[in-house]
Amino acid sequence: MRELKILAVVVFFTLVTYWGVEPFAHSQMHKHVEGHGFTYNGEADIKEAEAGVVKAKESGSKEAEAQAKVEAKKSFWADVEKIAQLQGNAANGEAAFATCLGCHNGSGVNMGGVIPPNLDHAGVLYDKNYLIALIKDPAMASNVDHKYEDTMTHPMGSIKTMVTDDQQIADIVAYMQEKMAGEVTSKQAFDEACARCHAMRYAKTTQLGDTPTFKYEKDALAHKIKVIEEQEMVKAYMGKLPPDLSIMIRARSEHFMETFVENPQAQLPGTSMPRVGLSHEGYEKVKAYLEEVGDPSKPAREAIGPWVLLFFVVFTVLAYLWKKSQWKDLH
Ligand code: HEC
Ligand code: HEC
Repeated sequence: MRELKILAVVVFFTLVTYWGVEPFAHSQMHKHVEGHGFTYNGEADIKEAEAGVVKAKESGSKEAEAQAKVEAKKSFWADVEKIAQLQGNAANGEAAFATCLGCHNGSGVNMGGVIPPNLDHAGVLYDKNYLIALIKDPAMASNVDHKYEDTMTHPMGSIKTMVTDDQQIADIVAYMQEKMAGEVTSKQAFDEACARCHAMRYAKTTQLGDTPTFKYEKDALAHKIKVIEEQEMVKAYMGKLPPDLSIMIRARSEHFMETFVENPQAQLPGTSMPRVGLSHEGYEKVKAYLEEVGDPSKPAREAIGPWVLLFFVVFTVLAYLWKKSQWKDLH
């Protein structure tokens, strides 16, 4: 009887901890961020701006400024929505896309902080609404407008004066979705979407791309210096060097990763990492690459799982039979 009471007490406190204390502590340490399925309509951005108004009211300063920001976000995303309704013409878009090639030309030259990414698969990697928003105003689209007095000074900001016509934006996006699509490997997805900022030591990739093998030490060192110079420019742009992502997929939960990539500000308010604007498909590819590099034994582990379970089942049955046979004569 006494044992039963002790057991009841232990069970009670275990359950209280499991359902009460742990989730509470977790919710306090990590605020819950809703995912939005890799759709980009500005809802999160507007909510953030509205929270800014509440804060400004509390502190009694810059309320008008905060209110103006809400209006700016609302009208920006309403314009994006309007352009999304237009029928894009891919043939016209091809000609207009020439403006993009001025920077996105594969020359590997740093422009205002990073090397403009290769856009070969931009039509599948990025969400359509996001691409529209990006051409309209890159800093607003990636939710880092707070970093700029004038969003023209974003490294891609001058696009605002080069492409000003709504129909033209719709045409460029239609062209990208038609021609810059096709099969994309997980490595290409990472290279195009993340590698201009993040290195992957385990995959021998830096902000300058895959590290070649050199015959002479001197050449290897010369390359290393170039990498350091590139990283210094990225650091000056971002305020800090973006972390190596080799094992990040094991350090962060799946939910964190997903919602962070959708909108970095939601998880790390004030962070300099821009929203990347991946489509769902694009994110799955990037994630697959992070897993391949950071957790290469995962498929093997998963394959062995059922066998381990089977072993335990067989072992339990045998142990039970053995016990029965041992106790048989004692009763
Ligand atoms: C003035 C140079 C310049 C021009 C012109 C330009 N870009 Fe960019 N683009 C950049 C730079 C620099 C980045 C990287 C910005 C960053 O990472 O913060 C970039 C990033 C991008 C990205 C990835 C953005 C993300 O958030 O993931 C896409 C997609 C893109 N550009 C498309 C275009 C398209 C389409 C055009 C033409 C309509 C264009 N760019 C014109 C410089 C330019
Ligand atoms: C324009 C540069 C840039 C691009 C592109 C970029 N990141 Fe980042 N990323 C950063 C910076 C800067 C930080 C550091 C953020 C901080 O600590 O505030 C960061 C941090 C991170 C972190 C760590 C967050 C944490 O919990 O500390 C992850 C995960 C991440 N990035 C994933 C990605 C993925 C995946 C991609 C591609 C889809 C990507 N990033 C593209 C700049 C970038």
